[in-house]
Amino acid sequence: MQDLKRGNECQVISWEDDGSVDALPGTAARPSAAEPIQSVIQRAVTRRALLKGGVAAGAGLVIAPALLLKPSPAAADDDVRDRRGRRDPGSRLTFQTVEPSFEGDIVVPPNYAYDVILRWGDPLFPGTPDFDLNDQTPEKQALQFGYNADLVLWYPLPEFVRKMVQWRGELGSIANRWLGSAYPRLKDAYSRRALVIVNHEYTTGADMFPGYSQSRNEALVEIEAHGFSIVELAQDRDGRWSFDQGSPFNRRVTGSTPMEISGPLRGMPEMQTADDPNGKVVLGCLNNCAGGKTPWGTILTCEENFDQYFANFGDVAGRPKDLSLRIAAESADTERKWEDYVDRFDLSKEPNEYNRFGFIVEIDPYNPQDKPKKRTALGRFKHEGAAARVAPNGKVAIYSGDDARFEYVYKFVTKGRYNPGNRSANLNLLDEGTLYVARFDVGAVEGDEMGIGQWLELSTNNPALVDWTETEILLNTRGAADVVGATPMDRPEDIEVNPKSGRLYVALTNNSQRTGAPGSGATRDVNGREVSTEPNASNPRFDTWDNGVDSNTGNEHGHIIELIEDGNDPTSTSFKWNIFVQCGDPNVAYHDVRFGDIADPVAAGVSPISDPDNLVHDDEGNLWIATDGMPGSGGTKGFGQNDGVFAVPVEGEHRGLLRQFLSGVPGGEVCGPEFSGDNKTFFCAIQHPYEGKGVGHENKWPLGEPVSKPSLVAVRELSGKKIGA
Ligand code: FEO
Ligand code: CA
Ligand code: CA
Repeated sequence: MQDLKRGNECQVISWEDDGSVDALPGTAARPSAAEPIQSVIQRAVTRRALLKGGVAAGAGLVIAPALLLKPSPAAADDDVRDRRGRRDPGSRLTFQTVEPSFEGDIVVPPNYAYDVILRWGDPLFPGTPDFDLNDQTPEKQALQFGYNADLVLWYPLPEFVRKMVQWRGELGSIANRWLGSAYPRLKDAYSRRALVIVNHEYTTGADMFPGYSQSRNEALVEIEAHGFSIVELAQDRDGRWSFDQGSPFNRRVTGSTPMEISGPLRGMPEMQTADDPNGKVVLGCLNNCAGGKTPWGTILTCEENFDQYFANFGDVAGRPKDLSLRIAAESADTERKWEDYVDRFDLSKEPNEYNRFGFIVEIDPYNPQDKPKKRTALGRFKHEGAAARVAPNGKVAIYSGDDARFEYVYKFVTKGRYNPGNRSANLNLLDEGTLYVARFDVGAVEGDEMGIGQWLELSTNNPALVDWTETEILLNTRGAADVVGATPMDRPEDIEVNPKSGRLYVALTNNSQRTGAPGSGATRDVNGREVSTEPNASNPRFDTWDNGVDSNTGNEHGHIIELIEDGNDPTSTSFKWNIFVQCGDPNVAYHDVRFGDIADPVAAGVSPISDPDNLVHDDEGNLWIATDGMPGSGGTKGFGQNDGVFAVPVEGEHRGLLRQFLSGVPGGEVCGPEFSGDNKTFFCAIQHPYEGKGVGHENKWPLGEPVSKPSLVAVRELSGKKIGA
């Protein structure tokens, strides 16, 4: 990396947000007032060429000398400040890097500890039967913690709200109003009691039942093991959280819980079934993956791969078929065989049932009587998550990715405005608004890994969609996005909004089918339409095994895009973007990695990372990334270690200095991730430990259990510091 030492300029990096930035602090691309945009871009291109080992011709390299001189991230100053005396948010991350691990238990840095809070099958209510591996029933499972824990969200539980609900059994208007004004302050503060939601994404029967045979009982248990749990936790003086089984807030919502169909599709003919001729109430939510919090303190939980539960799409014809061609269900029988026992999962009997899944579901954790609502205005696709941001004018934007190869990034903007003083008035804000999909454009220079973009309106107001109805757009959202020209991405997983800056971070986890060489014209049929497999500006890698030996495996390791709304306004219809992290092993040249502004990732101590999935920010804006897929990503060629959690500053001197904080267990992805309001607890879920090994496998996690159990985990620093210190 001696070329890097040619750098003779010093860029003063500022992490200060003036509320109106639309460029990229800490990147070589950020224009200063005195600098023409062309010179900025030339700098970026030159810099990128250097990182790839190319020759820099006639341009100075822009790297803060401190980055070149600081080989050990653990030696980072913990109180670096900018010219105005503001602390560098990344300087908090002084934890000792966790090395890649293949071990059978969670690894956290020295001076940290973890506790398993809830496991699959744990009784959630007084009198609920204990988990019994050999005698699970749907009735028991409906009262126990579900399977495959995914999303984790933490909500403060004020004593006033707790007392009111204990007394009345519901939230009530007085407590609701009080909560509306208090929530924005409390959500980032210490709270000894909290409500936590955990999604239960999917089931794998062979890992759940001895002698799994796709029986009626197994199918019905699996349906009840889906959905999500809302639980009350309490913290002791040592900072340790435990589950309060007697709480009136504890709830299970499963694959059979009645929920409202809300928004424009409510009652529409396409939503009507034999069991629900009015098209207003659907049973259950399925494949709940990531999600997010609304500014008014409700939960958004997202239905992702709902296609896998519905059989015999091959028998569906006409309009129901056309509406779902881009998101087709199983053509014949399903793997779980629920259709053998529950008619609504057989589309040859009930084709419209399929139209009632694939939505963002909203529920109020503070009101045990609240009925979940499927918010159809936000479209129907494989919603991975939902990130909310309030605009200066009070409208609320919800960002959501569609996690499949070559699918899209979406934004919904409410018609109404958030009212901090009237929580009730916000509870149906998500039923009316405008849906958009993202087009990522090259920008001024091709190949510089940054550009501009447009939010394309998905409504009949868009001339491209004048022949569509609102119902068609909201049910066949992918098809509408095709028509308006959205950019096919490398599997958009979680999206998060940085609470300090408003910038968005979009995890593109990988794309094994991004294999077309540039200019080759290569296409393939994916999700019901022909799509180019060539790289594009925002998905630039088409062969991360380009070592001259192995076959082309596409974008194996994924990347993270930073997106900045123009005017820093979430209602804007245009944005700028850059590739913040291009994942891989920094030690493997052909992975072609990028980590923010880190010139020499190996020397800086950057950790290898693949398959970024779930995201969260800490209270200083640092980005925390949980991965899904590292055990199978690269095998013997440098990856294969357990999934993990990584922290990376997005601003300041260490922008891009990504390091591993936690290692999960074999076969299991790490989900959540989430912080308590005071940032002194880090929550995550270990999903599908030892997946596919079956109930008789010799290794199990959590240790000592009769079978591996997806679980909710809390991590704390033993002397009570904030997570990351
Ligand atoms: Fe359920 Fe896309 O992860
Ligand atoms: Ca995910
Ligand atoms: Ca998240």
